[in-house]
Amino acid sequence: MTKVLGISGSLRRSSYNSALLRAATRLMPPDSMLEVASIRGIPLYDGDVEAQGIPAAVAQLKETIVAADGVLLVTPEYNNSIPGVLKNTIDWLSRPAADIKRVFGGRPFALIGASPGPFGTVLSQAAWLPVLRTLGTLTWFGGRIAVSRAANVFDEAGAFKDPALEEQLRQFLAGYVGFITRPPGS
Ligand SMILES: Cc1cc2nc3c(=O)[nH]c(=O)nc-3n(C[C@H](O)[C@H](O)[C@H](O)COP(=O)(O)O)c2cc1C
Repeated sequence: MTKVLGISGSLRRSSYNSALLRAATRLMPPDSMLEVASIRGIPLYDGDVEAQGIPAAVAQLKETIVAADGVLLVTPEYNNSIPGVLKNTIDWLSRPAADIKRVFGGRPFALIGASPGPFGTVLSQAAWLPVLRTLGTLTWFGGRIAVSRAANVFDEAGAFKDPALEEQLRQFLAGYVGFITRPPGS
């Protein structure tokens, strides 16, 4: 069983990105599962807090990532870039730096996102690239899900209204899980 951890970068109750992540949990290929992790409770990064020890919520999320075969980041776009709350989480997860290799190194990541605007989250997804590169992740680029006009895509319960997009997400997840489970050296 391939286990992917999904992290939505929005705290909003009616978040499109969290709806996208929930939809993805139902569209995973056979022999795989998508577990949802929350960034709620991750404090603002503060070096003085770190000097007293890694906060429990951060330490727990780090171990959940280590136990997963891959990480799916579901990112909103703020001011054409990364949302602060999700970057703050990743920054905490990268501490202490000696742990970066264990938590991120060679780990298959993938990025998707949703926005009510016309461009999906293409600029936010692009802004993540140097971060994921710096942390040594193995980010998969075999597909792209940047949901635009998200208000037309999800119903009030957060379910997909757009069967074509649902199929696109299903194929994206199949490609990503195929990448995670590819034979070594291929
Ligand atoms: C500070 C801020 C900046 C934003 N900037 C952008 C932006 O650059 N591009 C965009 O498509 N949407 C932008 N938005 C709108 C968000 O995409 C929208 O609030 C979206 O619903 C957030 O994701 P969520 O539904 O998962 O919470 C911005 C929203 C906020 C609060």
